[in-house]
Parts: sequence; structure tokens; C-alpha cells
Amino acid sequence: MEKNKFSITLRVWKQKDASSKGYFESYKVEGIIPDMSFLEMIDVLNEKLIKQGKEPIFFESDCREGICGCCGFVVDGNPHGPDEHSTVCQLHMRRFKEGDVVTIEPFRAKSFPIIKDLIVDRSALDKIIAAGGYISVNVGSAPDANTIPVDKNTAEKAMDYATCIGCGACVASCPNSAAMLFTGAKIAHLAYLPQGKPERTKRVLNMIKVMDSLGFGNCTNEYECEAVCPKEIKVGAIAKMNREFLFANFLSEEEPQLPPVFHKSTVDVPEDE
Ligand code: SF4
Ligand code: FES
Repeated sequence: MEKNKFSITLRVWKQKDASSKGYFESYKVEGIIPDMSFLEMIDVLNEKLIKQGKEPIFFESDCREGICGCCGFVVDGNPHGPDEHSTVCQLHMRRFKEGDVVTIEPFRAKSFPIIKDLIVDRSALDKIIAAGGYISVNVGSAPDANTIPVDKNTAEKAMDYATCIGCGACVASCPNSAAMLFTGAKIAHLAYLPQGKPERTKRVLNMIKVMDSLGFGNCTNEYECEAVCPKEIKVGAIAKMNREFLFANFLSEEEPQLPPVFHKSTVDVPEDE
């Protein structure tokens, strides 16, 4: 074996489509350089498989720099892999050693049907965004936006929540497959900013209604979502969402909207830890 290069056995979840049965297939991957990213390691394996006339491993990626949210899958039981608050495209092979057996599988959640192998359909998150994750006011260009006074603390809070990349790891890590960290982050981000005020009450009611209709579970304070979130979004987002929800129901002239399990256990989570 060449110096520094090493081999692992990769156990990969293979599944033709959502309705087919999946199974694990093992591949020996040799000549791994420690500085390779995890996805580059799969690229090298895939090139070899294609040259041999075999089917490659299907996975999703785009930016490969931790900002687009495309690349999530589960590595050895951890959404996005063993590194804390990372994306799988930012995971490097130096984290592994000669002889390791590494298991990779797709995010598991009813609302994320498997498209093929490691690729899941995360369009349920897009539907939640379409229900209210936008503003309708014309805020002009960047200089115009800078003329609207927003105090530093508020801007920092909104920015922290705005960093959510929609990867879905929070859903995959949650025993209830809840999408509340994601939805909470999107609601909180706009609720803190003056530009988000016109739709403030409508937004939270609509986004929660759609979230509940898509089969995501409810929060039971496991904190797994916070632990895996690559953008370190805190569960305070869920508390903020619940406060916004209560406030919106109070102001609404319509019948109060109570989800199947009222988002009960999260209302006492500190909002901004
Ligand atoms: S809250 Fe975090 S884990 Fe969930 S979708 Fe956003 S970035 Fe991913
Ligand atoms: S490929 Fe964009 S976050 Fe990983």
C-alpha cells in the first residue's frame, strides 16, 4: 500500500426507487487519500464501477462547500456524518482509517421518499417555504435595505436563523421526523425583521398547516435536530415558532388553528439560548 493511502469497506444502501425494496451492498474502496472529501471518495469508486460496466452509487451534491443543502445522507448512523455541525460534503477521509467498515444510507423519514440509493425527495421542505417563507413588500436594492434601521441584536438573531440551508438533517435525526427546526428557522428569520412583518401572522399559520399536512411529526424535545444541524441552529427557533403561532391565533378572526398534537412540549424551550 502506498504511503498514507488506505482502504475501507463501504456498505451502501441500494434502492431502485421508492416502491422497491432496498438492501446494503459492500464495496472495497482502495487508494483513499486522507485529504479526499467523502464525496470525492465516492466519485472515485463510481468511476471505477462505471468502467467495469456496473451501476454507480446515486447520491446528490451541488456546491460541495456546505452552503446548498443538497448532499445529506447518513454516515454510520449520523445525518451528515460523524463531524459535529458539518455537511457530508465537508467530511474528509482523514476521519477514517485503514480497515474501517463505513455504512451509508439515505435520510429516513416518511416525508422524504427515496428517489434512488442515497437520494431522497426533500420537496416537502419546499412546500413549507412556498406556504409563507417569503415577503411581499418591495424592499428595493441593497442600499435601500440598509436604510431600514434594524438593531444589531435583532439583525444577528435573524441572520442566525437565515443560515438554514434546507438540508433536512434535522428531520432525519428526529425520532418523530419533525421538521420544526427547519420551519421554525424560516419563520423566526422573517419574524425578527421589519420586512417580514406584513405577512407575520399569516405566514406562521400557513407554514405550520402545510408542515402538519405533509406527515412530519411533532417535537418532543429530543434536541437531536440541534445536535446535527450544520448551521448550528438552536431549538430556540422552535420556541419562537410556537410563540408566533400563539400570537397569530390570538389575532386571527378565524377559528383557532390547533395542529393534531399542539406543539406542546416546546413552548417552554428558551427562545434564544
Ligand atoms: S435547520 Fe439545520 S438541519 Fe434543519 S434543514 Fe436547516 S440547516 Fe439543515
Ligand atoms: S453539496 Fe452543497 S451543502 Fe453539501
